[in-house]
Amino acid sequence: MTQDNRNTGQGLAAQQVFGPQAAVYATSKVHIRDDSLESVERMVGAGSGANRYGWTVDLGTGAGFTAFAVAGVSEHVVASDVTEPMLRQAQRLGHERGIANLGLSQNAAEALPFADGSIDLVTSRVSAHHFRDFEKALDEAKRVLKKGGSLLMADSIAPEDDAICDWMNEIELRRDFSHIENRQISKIQRLLADRGFTVIENDYPRIYLRFNEWTARTKVSAEETEALRKDFLEAPAATREAFQVAPVHNDIAFSWPCWVFRAEKG
Ligand SMILES: C[S@@+](CC[C@H](N)C(=O)[O-])C[C@H]1O[C@@H](n2cnc3c(N)ncnc32)[C@H](O)[C@@H]1O
Repeated sequence: MTQDNRNTGQGLAAQQVFGPQAAVYATSKVHIRDDSLESVERMVGAGSGANRYGWTVDLGTGAGFTAFAVAGVSEHVVASDVTEPMLRQAQRLGHERGIANLGLSQNAAEALPFADGSIDLVTSRVSAHHFRDFEKALDEAKRVLKKGGSLLMADSIAPEDDAICDWMNEIELRRDFSHIENRQISKIQRLLADRGFTVIENDYPRIYLRFNEWTARTKVSAEETEALRKDFLEAPAATREAFQVAPVHNDIAFSWPCWVFRAEKG
């Protein structure tokens, strides 16, 4: 670890959920590679062979897949997460992949151990909906970024319909007690604009999931799993349509909408 700034007050529930499951996340297909990671790679010009960024910080890095994706276009990448066992997975996998410019930092996204105006790129993928204080995390990203630096976030978002948004967040919370909020894009746009960020590019991939694996990953009890299964299958038609809910054999296929954006600090 290059830093030790745990700030467990902001990440305690996340540490309880993600700590024991760190090895499972390290082998999770949807985290290793999906359309949202491809959007991130496209937006940073991965594969171009050029070092476009000096210092990059990946927030809520988990097992490190987004940090690895931006390592090739950065001089230095700091994979940061509040959960120490996750960082150990990132360290192990980064070593296996021969990534030489990877540093690790245990910290909450809401309390970044970096100087003002010192970072070129801040990334975060499928983690912001776990941040206890998303607005504080945005404040921190703004503080540490250089002027003109980029904030690149990829995360599940909620539909603009309030009833469907509430359904999604209630379901997520029952599956993972560290869940905080899948936000509507309009809300995130307001929060970015309030902080002087300008959104430069967008992508709208979907996160395709299977119910059985999704509930197993957070160790949902058998009883709650069956209650959730029923709620997916019996949700109002508009909700099932919004999340592409489809029974398959003894499982359910569904997808969460996702927003990937790159915003520049003014
Ligand atoms: C689904 S995993 C992230 C996956 C990863 N970003 C990737 O691309 O594969 C969510 C991560 O967010 C972390 N997390 C939750 N709350 C956090 C916070 N407030 N600050 C930093 N990390 C947090 C968890 O510990 C967990 O490792």
